[in-house]
Amino acid sequence: MKILFTNRQIAQRVEELGKEITSDYQGSELLVIGVLKGGFIFVSDLVRHLDLPVRVEFVRLSSYGCSDSPQCEVKISDDTGDIMKGKHILIVDDIMDTGKSIVAFKKHLESKGPASVKICTMINKKVRRTQDVEPDYYGFTITDGFIVGYGLDFAEDYRALPEICVLEPSDRRDAP
Ligand code: IMP
Ligand code: MG
Repeated sequence: MKILFTNRQIAQRVEELGKEITSDYQGSELLVIGVLKGGFIFVSDLVRHLDLPVRVEFVRLSSYGCSDSPQCEVKISDDTGDIMKGKHILIVDDIMDTGKSIVAFKKHLESKGPASVKICTMINKKVRRTQDVEPDYYGFTITDGFIVGYGLDFAEDYRALPEICVLEPSDRRDAP
């Protein structure tokens, strides 16, 4: 497995993002909505660098057939009720790839009357983007390739790695 971003690089970038977001939302309260499971580590690091009144919620998004067919369904598990109304919301996730899951979730949130909705992802993977969307804030850009660690998984493995790594064929659990 090849390290792409070390935990020191990640920590430094998260601190910078925290300062930028703090300055952009001065005088407001922020509702951070983390996307499970991939966003769990990034959310916990980022909110500790926000010098703002912050609330945190989590939702779970699952997508089916998004990578290999035009038929893409995103299932949203959101038990937060009506708390979005009038709030400044920041969606925080591990990675934006095609953009389909975050676009679907953003539409869902916008129907609940928030004051604003922005997107923050640790990684911006642009080459497979199919939606007209960009994260408002992101940690790093990567070209193609499958990455793991810092919340990102391959078949539920590797989420807890402190670094962000590129997965190579020999890293797969069933590799010879
Ligand atoms: P979307 O294509 O932008 O909707 O991304 C859907 C989800 O696919 C992301 O939230 C990740 O959970 C997952 N994903 C996309 N690219 C990678 C990757 O390189 N490593 C691990 N998970 C990924
Ligand atoms: Mg995800």
